[in-house]
Amino acid sequence: MTNAFESLGLENFRCDLDEQRIAWLTLDCPDSPVNRMTAQVVHELGLVLDWLERSPPAGLIIQSGKDSGFIAGADIDEFAGLDSREKALNLVARGWNAYNRLAGMGFPTLALIRGHCLGGGLELALACRYRLAVEQPGTSLALPEVMLGIFPGWGGMLRLPRVIGAPAALDMMLTGKPLDARKATRLGLVDGTVAPRLMHRAAAMMVLSGRKQRRAKGLPGLLNAAPLRPLVAWQARKTLDKRDPGRHYPAPRAILDIWAHHNGNALQAPALIDTIVRSDTARNLLRVFRLQERLKGFGRKKSGAPPARHVHVIGAGVMGGDIAAWCALKGMTVTLQDQDRERIAAAQGRAGKLFARKKKDPREARAAFDRLAPDLDGDGIRHADVVIEAITENPEAKRALYQQVEPRMKPGAILATNTSSLSLEALRAGLSRPGHFVGLHFFNPVARMPLVEVVEAADTDADALAGAHAFVTDIGKLPLPVRSTPGFLVNAVLAPYMLEAMRCVDEGIQPEAIDSAMVRFGMPMGPIELIDTVGLDIARDAGQQLAETTAMPSCLQSHLERKELGRKTGQGFYAWKDGKAVKRKPTTVPAGLAQRLIAPLVAKTREQLDKGVVADADLADAGVIFGTGFAPFTGGPLHYAASHEDAAGKQTAMSARRATDTHQASSGVQANVADSAGSSSTPAATPAHGARQTGDTSGREEPADPTSRASTGGDS
Ligand code: NAI
Repeated sequence: MTNAFESLGLENFRCDLDEQRIAWLTLDCPDSPVNRMTAQVVHELGLVLDWLERSPPAGLIIQSGKDSGFIAGADIDEFAGLDSREKALNLVARGWNAYNRLAGMGFPTLALIRGHCLGGGLELALACRYRLAVEQPGTSLALPEVMLGIFPGWGGMLRLPRVIGAPAALDMMLTGKPLDARKATRLGLVDGTVAPRLMHRAAAMMVLSGRKQRRAKGLPGLLNAAPLRPLVAWQARKTLDKRDPGRHYPAPRAILDIWAHHNGNALQAPALIDTIVRSDTARNLLRVFRLQERLKGFGRKKSGAPPARHVHVIGAGVMGGDIAAWCALKGMTVTLQDQDRERIAAAQGRAGKLFARKKKDPREARAAFDRLAPDLDGDGIRHADVVIEAITENPEAKRALYQQVEPRMKPGAILATNTSSLSLEALRAGLSRPGHFVGLHFFNPVARMPLVEVVEAADTDADALAGAHAFVTDIGKLPLPVRSTPGFLVNAVLAPYMLEAMRCVDEGIQPEAIDSAMVRFGMPMGPIELIDTVGLDIARDAGQQLAETTAMPSCLQSHLERKELGRKTGQGFYAWKDGKAVKRKPTTVPAGLAQRLIAPLVAKTREQLDKGVVADADLADAGVIFGTGFAPFTGGPLHYAASHEDAAGKQTAMSARRATDTHQASSGVQANVADSAGSSSTPAATPAHGARQTGDTSGREEPADPTSRASTGGDS
């Protein structure tokens, strides 16, 4: 059999037949660290199925030849290159047809899942009769297409709800959330889990077991029945409308449509395929995905030092305590120092809650807790690979601390500050190894914010920098290299945005209307709620340091005078109850408000780029998206401004052409022509130049429920 298989000349698959006549089909894409379902792989799968049909085995087990995982999904580059409706349909049809053939084979089939099993990989597994997941930390099953603005068109929308029922399937498809092996078993997505050393034996037994294929039972199964689907979809759509009031993300709604009305078969809705797959949102989300990969890449640059294992954090306050907890959660040994014993105890309390939330297995939560040791005297300094200072924002105190710490550090270790506003140059005076001093600017709340700005000076040691980036990726965050300047990137761009929002309040615009406009624009939280969340005192300090104009908004001043500092005091622009801002129903949102608020943010992003704070426009966009939650569907503030400028350019040109035509047809309408060209200068052209905006998105900015979005942090 092997020889006959070899005659197929496949690059990606190999196949072995064992004594029980089980065919073990191994996918191992050459020259790639992961398996992907490229056009070539899907084509080869078809050849394999032709061949197996000719002499059917007793069973087929599909496994991966990679240690990294099973299959990472379809090929994103192919999807990015879709420039016609026909190509989009072909891509969907290719996987849909191949997987249908696999599902219809006359012999039992099994997917042996070890490591990641994502997108087109999970859809392939769903087309098998059985699925067996190997119990190991990296095993993760997901349909993350929605995060790229597309849908699981290769049978996922048909088979997942059949196997696990409608509610759980919709949750997975509409959020892209991954399941680990245990959760996948609990939901019935896999038929069982197995320890790595037993996986081959267990897979062989299961594929020959003759067991019935899994189907969702009870209510979850019933809710997948065709007559009930429209009702379930209607309910789900209501939740989507709350989460995405601006309707910027069409893919989740398309998933509901295809599931409810086309039995999960996207090919029955070709127009929908074309609009979704080639939409601006999908392109921009793909861009965001690539930006994220680029940031992760900074952590893979070679550094002379071995990976960090021990982190020592000094300052157990809001930031230091949470940074220490996060590092312990991610497997680091952590020592936590503070001059105040009670601050350490409070930080340990918060850490305990974090571990319980993130680690479902109590033994793992306990292990994380054991990795975090209180250390009043700083004994951990001499063992640490990275020492992070997160004490009060006072340059003298920080410099004095470094004098004590640096001599105790081991050679090659990195000293980092979490300062949000002070320059490295100001802090490192007096250090004997200034090149090993970097900024690691985490955002608040640490557990929720994915970005860490890695701050460098002109002469920072390259190895220390590479080590700092690697450390950030090792703890599961995204490193953004930035130059040491006030506010770095993220705080610098947030400050004028928040200032403009408070100016609006001074002009009498209702805070709820301001927040509503920005949530509708696509921000995870409005600017006024953000100010309340970070604290009005911190917003004032950041504003004084970063904003060019010194005049403090009077609304800010009066809240400060009344000691209303926001969430932490229970009252700011809003009253806070049970951790939530109490909001009134917003009044009508003034036309162009969102564009007015975005304008200073875009202008500042451009200014920081021009100053060289980040190396290029893509990194600026990545920083603002991952550091502030800036509407991902736009592709980032600079990308958004540029695409609207393009659109504005085209519009203006068209108007000008129309004007010329009209002028040629009938002289004497010059004034109107000029007006029309003027009004076509679209919203985003204006923000790009920092001017106020009038009359743009008025039609879209109606009052909305702003409370339904996930929140973001920030620390300005
Ligand atoms: P915090 O006031 O909550 O905590 C500071 C801690 O440092 C306190 O527990 C204090 O006892 C301790 N401390 C002060 N001097 C010390 C010393 N010499 N030795 C040992 N412990 C000492 O401050 P927070 O908010 O955590 O800020 C810490 C740093 O992080 C600051 O540089 C701040 O700019 C920066 N940052 C703050 C953010 C925020 O949202 N709060 C966000 C990002 C950065």
